[in-house]
Parts: sequence; structure tokens; C-alpha cells
Amino acid sequence: MDRTRFPIDEWRLVETDHDPKDLGTTETLFAVGNGYLGMRGNPEEGRDAHTHGTYVNGFHEVWQIRHAEDAHGFARVGQTIVNVPDTKVIKVYVDDEPLTLDVADLDEYERTLDFSSGVLRRKVIWRTSAGKRVQINTTRMVSFAQRHLAIMTMDVTMLEGDAPIVISSQVLNRQDGHDDYSAAPVHNDPRKQETLDRRILDPITQWCGDGRIMLGYRAHESRMTLAVGVDHSLFTDNHYSEQVSADPDSGKMVYRINAQQSVPIHLEKLVAYHSSRSVPVRELIDRCRRTLDRAREQGVESVHDDQLAWLADFWKNADVELPGQPALQQAVRWNLFQVAQATARAEAYGVAAKGVSGPGYSGHYFWDTEIYVLPFLTYTLPQAARCALRFRYTMLEAARKRAAEMAQLGALFPWRTINGEEASAYYAAGTAQYHIDADIAYALVKYVNATGDIDFLLHEGVEILVETARLWADLGFWRTNGDKEFHIHSVTGPDEYTTVVNDNLFTNVMARFNLARAAETVNELRVRNPDAYARVAKRLDLQEREVDEWARCAAAMYVPYDHEVGVHPQDMHFLEREVWDLSNTPADKRPLMLHYHPLVLYRFQVLKQADVVLAMFLLGDDFTPEEKRANFEYYDPITTGDSTLSAVVQSIMAAQTGYHDLALRYFYAGLFVDLADRHGNTSDGVHVASAGGVWSALVYGFAGMHDNDAKLCFQPRLPESWPELRFRLHWRDTRLLVTLRNDQMRFEVVSGPGIRVQVGAEQFDLDPSEPTTVPLSGQGERRRGEIVQWPLKGGYREDGSLITASVPRSRDG
Ligand code: BGC
Repeated sequence: MDRTRFPIDEWRLVETDHDPKDLGTTETLFAVGNGYLGMRGNPEEGRDAHTHGTYVNGFHEVWQIRHAEDAHGFARVGQTIVNVPDTKVIKVYVDDEPLTLDVADLDEYERTLDFSSGVLRRKVIWRTSAGKRVQINTTRMVSFAQRHLAIMTMDVTMLEGDAPIVISSQVLNRQDGHDDYSAAPVHNDPRKQETLDRRILDPITQWCGDGRIMLGYRAHESRMTLAVGVDHSLFTDNHYSEQVSADPDSGKMVYRINAQQSVPIHLEKLVAYHSSRSVPVRELIDRCRRTLDRAREQGVESVHDDQLAWLADFWKNADVELPGQPALQQAVRWNLFQVAQATARAEAYGVAAKGVSGPGYSGHYFWDTEIYVLPFLTYTLPQAARCALRFRYTMLEAARKRAAEMAQLGALFPWRTINGEEASAYYAAGTAQYHIDADIAYALVKYVNATGDIDFLLHEGVEILVETARLWADLGFWRTNGDKEFHIHSVTGPDEYTTVVNDNLFTNVMARFNLARAAETVNELRVRNPDAYARVAKRLDLQEREVDEWARCAAAMYVPYDHEVGVHPQDMHFLEREVWDLSNTPADKRPLMLHYHPLVLYRFQVLKQADVVLAMFLLGDDFTPEEKRANFEYYDPITTGDSTLSAVVQSIMAAQTGYHDLALRYFYAGLFVDLADRHGNTSDGVHVASAGGVWSALVYGFAGMHDNDAKLCFQPRLPESWPELRFRLHWRDTRLLVTLRNDQMRFEVVSGPGIRVQVGAEQFDLDPSEPTTVPLSGQGERRRGEIVQWPLKGGYREDGSLITASVPRSRDG
């Protein structure tokens, strides 16, 4: 990061200079949102932008996917998040000259996103062409406390000279707008948004009056409804007049002010968005009105106070501190703040890959939520974790239908979706990722273990466990080869550079977990709560023999292992492929997916993202320490990290296997994915999975947390250069503050009863009345340096053949 332009500040992201060259990145970095509503960091003037973006979680348009060559069960319904009408625009004219950041002569410029107040602020002093100086300060926030509310303010003061000032506060439907609105860029990058070249938002209502503008729309095909309301108040001793107008695609509140030197002008713009799958627009307009009335009565200051209070509570439960390391501290807080902005008020909707910060991946929900975001939420904001899991539950019916369409029993969750239907048009790297079923089950079990939310398990959770277990038991098959083994064929694991394979290790061990936990849960329920069991059995038509079958499938699950190479192959045939020589692949051919046809990638041992290595993190007890090390050393040199979901996991397993330097390097890579735009696509939105993974890397990686047996255990591996790592955890009814140093680990019960934790092999009963300090002697083995891509030196498969490495010639030379 350029530290002159983005100086270090532990609680804020600060920008001291406006630079039009990286608008896309800064729009994402300075976006504000609450998981329901999100606004990109577009400047108030509403002119040049990479993407003018405002998003309402789940508000999407659908379209027919046309496959050039069709087949049964292909995804039919494309789903794309809509860029809802933009309320961020507040244009300023002084002596009829518009403020345009790119060309303005600015005496001062500062923009800050404050993680403790949740407010984006910009301060500008502008020297107009006529030589007058004017100060323009703005704020923008999306409320955590009031889900549908956003508030903007603008303060304008003539510092030198009087001038006529015009402030034009607008609402613009940019999704369907033309003329001065930016055209959709053409691209062939699968990580970007689908673009539709037809009208999407059909205008239903426009109304204006008394400082208010209300616009209502229905999405043309999805029939989802949306209303946006804007309320204005101007405070000034200057003489002024005002005019409000609205048409189908815009609304304007224009103030003409005779501004005198030093006489301040203060504008408050309250904004409300309401959306629905089917509620009439008129009703949504009423809801907007009520949100605006309430905010007006409450007053801007008090709404800001609520935001501060909400965030104080959030940080009390979620902060991770790195004393003495302000640059890292800032980045850690930025990432955690982003997860809050992506999830806090998502409620009945999911968590999109980009949250509500950008259009990337079309606003779709993936496994990112369960594997990367839910661990953080479970331990810090359990209510939001519960909502995300409940959201999956609401999709269960669609998942049952999808399983039936795919000729399976049980439920198959879509790889990517907004409305519950599979939206992945490329099945090999999409639908084939059946592991999403087990990922959801895994996150669910972790949530119930950590929170003790048995109610959720009994009502929604058990249903998810049963239906996903049914899927696995039906998808896999028995094979007798001496012993009876359970195999799963034709699936894709997390690594999308190898698809549709037999016995993907990740899928098999995660499915094993899913099957075993489903059987255990149901059996326990039968014994402990026969009434509840009877209800569940009736509801799901559950037979005892199918539950026994799940346990048998789990026990006999085939887990590939190659004795000659001494590693777990990613799938049955993985080691039969030649190795991609990453060390000799030119930088301009990265990421590989943008330079090579998928088939070229599929022929090689090369990974987009952690796969076996991720399985070893999630299900650490299924692997011995020796296996973990051998697997990590094998896969790490052939992992490109072309997906941002990789680095944080590589960091965790590098720490676990003693590669402390590497762990730190991968951690930095994950930590600065967006802040340093390391993948060149931060402009599409925040990489929310990576942001959540930053927490996992700190807590599971460096603090070595291990929670698979419903117990809290730690095997710490603090980087040598770090004096201290401090974090908070919510476990059942107890809130803990954990402080890790090189020579000790300290546990403080902040509230709730004492609990038992394990550090290394020893157990400790924490006393709520005083902190428990555990002395540490060292933090595990430390291996220095890099891992050499060992197959280059010659590795042998089980059949004795040599594995060699090369780089294919790419299509573009
Ligand atoms: C990754 C997937 C991920 C998706 C959305 C892809 O690049 O390979 O694992 O779910 O991005 O973040």
C-alpha cells in the first residue's frame, strides 16, 4: 500500500489524496453497508466511477440461461443482483462551476472510513476557478441498527468570498439509465457480473413533495419489488430556494443558495430502501415513509450514536488486537469490519461473495459463507451465524427439488444462487461441487457446538443434516474390493482447476463428517428426546435403517492415499497427471484461468486453491501430523492461489506444520487481498471469504484453536516477530478474552460461567473470577524457508512411474 496516500491508522482507513486511476478499488475499500444495503464509495458528485453501485441483498433480476448445447438438469435461471437506484449523488455548483474531483484545484482532501463509528467522511477544501475557497464536508453511513436506513450529510461553507451555490441531491436509476451514466464494460472474466442489455426496473410509482422523493419499481422478470425514499432537510442562515422533482428514473432536490462567506450550510439526506419478493410497491413505499419518519424524529446525531453503540458492541465481541503492530492492526480491523458490513443485517438473505459492496459474481451466495465467514460469526456474532444457517434452511425445499432433478434422494444445495435455484451455468466447476452440502452441515455442527443452540438443531438443523446425509448415501456407491468401501464419483472439490473426478478427498472426508454427524444427531435425539424424534421422523419420513446406513457409509468412506508418494491424492487419478511447473510460469500468465482453457488446466497437477490442505484444516483429527506435513509440502508448491480463498487456508496449515515464515507470508497475502488489490479485481467488491478467513488464520492458525470435538483446544503458533495476539470468543454462555504471547496464553472470562479449555495436552478449568495464565515453552516446531516443488526433483507414483513438470504453451503465445 502507498502509505503516503493511505497512512496507518488503527481504527480508520484514511485516504489523503484523490486519484482517479484506481477508482474501482477505492470504491470498494470505502464502501459502506450493513449486510442488507450497501453503497460503494463513489464520490458524492456522482460523475466518474468504475462502478456506481448500490445493492440490496437478494434484490435480483432473472433471465433465461441459453446453453449453446443443452442437457437435462443444466441451470436454467440466471440470477443477477440489480444496481438499485443511486441515492449517493449530491452535486455542488459554486458560481455555476461543478465540483469535479478529477479536475478540481483541491487545497485539502481527506477521506476516512471509521471502523468504530461506521461513518464514511470526506473533507475537501476547493479553490474554484474564480479563486474562491469553499469547504465541503460530507458523511455517509448505512445503519447497522436500522436495517433499511442510510444517512448522508453535507456541510458547505464559503471560506473566502460569497457565491451562489447550487446543491442538487439526486436519486438515479443507473441500472436502466443512459446518457451520462456509465456503460457496462465488456469482459470475459468469470469473476465479474453478468450484464443484461434490457430494461430491468419497471417504474411503478414516482412521488415528490415536501423535501421527499419516493420511487417504486418492479424487476421485470423476477417480479421482485423495491421502493426507495429520500428525505431532505437544509439548515442555513443564507437565503435559499428549493425545488423537488421526480420522474420514472430519477428524482432531484435542488437548493439554490446565496451563500455568504463563513455562513454554514448543512444538508441532511435520509434514505430508506425496502424490497420484497412479492409485496406491492405501494406497501414498500409506506415502509420507506415510516423508516424516514422515524429517522427524522430521532435526528441524525442520535442515529450516528446508535451506530457507534452497535459497533462498540461488535468490537467488544469481535476485535482481534495486535499490540505494537499498527499497520497490521488497521488491516485486520478493516477486514473484520468488512465481514460485519457483509453480514450483520443480511437476516433472511444469504451472504454474497462480495457482500453488498460490489457486483462481482453477480451477487451470488456460495460455500464461502459456511466455510470462511461462519466460523467468525459463530464465535463473535452468533445471531448473524444463525440467520445465515436459517437462510439455507429456507432453501431446503428448492434443494430437495434440485436433488430430484439430479436423480438423487435428499437435498442438493445449489453451488451458486440468490433465489435457491442453481445459477451456475458451468456445471463442471459449479453444480459438481456437491461438497456444498457437507460444508453447510459442517458449519451447522460447528455453530451448534459453539453456541449450544439446541433449539435450532431440533427445528431446522436436523432437517438439513438428514437431507444432506440422504444425498450422500444415495450419491455414493458400495464397491467390494476385499473390504467394502463407499465411493463418491464425478464430483468437483474446492479446487476448480481439476473437475468432475472420482473420490475427491475433500468431498469424501466432508461427506463422511456429514453422514456421521447426521446419524449421531438423529440417534441421540431418539434416546434423549423421543417426542422430538417422533416429530422429526414423521416430518421427514425417517426410517431407522437409513440412519444406520449413513453410519455404515461414513465408516466405510474411501479416502485415497498413495503409499509410494506418501500423500493423499486430491482424487483417485490426481497423481496420474503431469505436474504444472509453476516456478517457470511467467507472471503475465497468471491467474491461469484467464490464459488457459479449462481442459488444459485439468490435465495437470495444479491447484487454483487449497483442497486436501483445506480438508486437513477443517477436519484436522482425520489426519496424523506426519500426513499433514507430507500433504502440505506436496500441495503447496503446486497451489497457485488464483482464488483468494486459498491464502488464508495455506497460512493456517503452514502454521500447523511448522512453516512459520510461510504462514506469515500467506497471512499477509490474505490480509491485503483487497487493501493492496493483490488479485487486481477488488473493483468488483470485497473478497468477503478472504476477509472472514483472516480471522480464521489468526485464531485457528496462529492461536491454533481446535474445536472439532465440541471442546475448545489450542496449540498456539504465534509468529516470532509478534509480541502479542489478543482475541475474543463466545462459547456457549461464556465470553472469553484470550491473550497469546510467546511465553504464555492467558484466558479471561469476561462474562458467563467458567469453562474448560485445553492448551497443548493439558486441560484447564477457567475461573470466572480471575484470569488463568498458561505458561508456554515454545510454540511447536519451526521449519525455516520455502518448500521446494519436490516433484520437479522426481517423484514416483505408486506404479513406479516418474512424475515430471512442465508449462503448457498458452493459447495467446
Ligand atoms: C472460487 C470459489 C468461490 C468463488 C466465490 C471462486 O473463484 O474458486 O471457491 O466460491 O470464487 O468466491
